[in-house]
Amino acid sequence: MFHWLCLAWMVTSSAEGLAVLQSAFVKKILQQDPAFCFRPLNTSLCNDKIFQDVFSNQTADIFDPSRKTLAFLFTPLSPRHPEFLHKCDYGLPNNTLFDPKLKTEIFIHGFLDGVCRSAWMREMKRELFKRGPYNVILVDWTWGNGPNYIDSAENTKLVGKQLAFLLQNIMERGHGKIIQSVVLGDINPLGHVDFYPNGGTQQDSCRPHIVKSFFSLDFLYATISLIPRICSHLHAVQYYKASINPSKCEFIGVECPDYESFLAGNCSSCQKNGQNCAIMGMNHEFYYRPSNSPLPLFRRFYLNTTHLHPYCDNSILNLE
Ligand SMILES: *[C@@H]1O[C@H](CO)[C@@H](O)[C@H](O)[C@H]1NC(C)=O
Ligand SMILES: *[C@@H]1O[C@H](CO)[C@@H](O)[C@H](O)[C@H]1NC(C)=O
Ligand SMILES: *[C@@H]1O[C@H](CO)[C@@H](O)[C@H](O)[C@H]1NC(C)=O
Ligand SMILES: *[C@@H]1O[C@H](CO)[C@@H](O)[C@H](O)[C@H]1NC(C)=O
Ligand SMILES: *[C@@H]1O[C@H](CO)[C@@H](O)[C@H](O)[C@H]1NC(C)=O
Repeated sequence: MFHWLCLAWMVTSSAEGLAVLQSAFVKKILQQDPAFCFRPLNTSLCNDKIFQDVFSNQTADIFDPSRKTLAFLFTPLSPRHPEFLHKCDYGLPNNTLFDPKLKTEIFIHGFLDGVCRSAWMREMKRELFKRGPYNVILVDWTWGNGPNYIDSAENTKLVGKQLAFLLQNIMERGHGKIIQSVVLGDINPLGHVDFYPNGGTQQDSCRPHIVKSFFSLDFLYATISLIPRICSHLHAVQYYKASINPSKCEFIGVECPDYESFLAGNCSSCQKNGQNCAIMGMNHEFYYRPSNSPLPLFRRFYLNTTHLHPYCDNSILNLE
């Protein structure tokens, strides 16, 4: 199963934001080779048979060398050295370690960020391999994600095509069936189950994380976190990461019509069998209680988080 974590966000054109983008430091990072943090697995044998049907007359722009999206495949047999799928025309090499029996998780960054520019995508991968065996694909489109925000938004269309092409190639070889998408960092209901940590706007715990990022040498992440709205959106990443291997508690969201009612304490019970609650993040397909029925569409869940890792806080919630 594909589980596509897509991070989308908007940037306010605040003076603070522009200053950060124009700093020499950010400019320097943006010029780096996007794959500088990986030594590739030796996969010289690309499979010649790639999926062509749907895109047969539209492949030119997908393969445009100046707009090269990178796709790094990690597997339990090679958790540190990825296969460079973009070097195989977005297909699997003949000698791939991709395991069709495993779930496939795909992570893609947003504006300014990049697989090697900040640490969170590699940290997600590390957490996933701690959780269990997966195919993990990290997607990098630093060729076109800034500093101009308008261009960047336009470029996401091509990135979507390139990704679709990649997924088709993988599935064409009988490697996978369901594509599921989870979008974090957008406060509009997206047609599935939506979670609103602390109401979904400014994340209080965002600021302490900036300091922590600086100390862990994740400078780009820390720097772009100085832009307030990016900071809140980036914080969804930290929640998701903490949810991969929850140690202390799960992120339990309780269904509520709006944030005001939630704050008023009108929605603080998961009710019988946990039917009023759902888990945010990696375990999102489960209700709190193990009823295991799939979630119906279009529901809003609210939850409180704490300032520091592991962020979850179920203390007031009545779990029945
Ligand atoms: C990669 O594999 C090919 C074929 O197995 C081999 O000819 C080549 O020398 C290898 N390259 C490296 C850098 O190991
Ligand atoms: C990869 O495998 C396909 C079919 O299995 C074969 O036709 C092709 O020649 C192989 N490619 C390389 C570079 O070995
Ligand atoms: C693709 O283009 C070729 C020639 O340019 C044409 O014959 C073919 O019908 C086109 N295929 C599709 C799917 O549009
Ligand atoms: C919370 O519930 C009470 C009692 O049902 C109701 O009077 C109140 O308006 C609700 N508050 C909000 C913010 O919905
Ligand atoms: C969420 O936090 C607010 C404000 O601190 C509090 O009033 C409310 O009871 C909390 N709700 C739950 C379910 O934890």
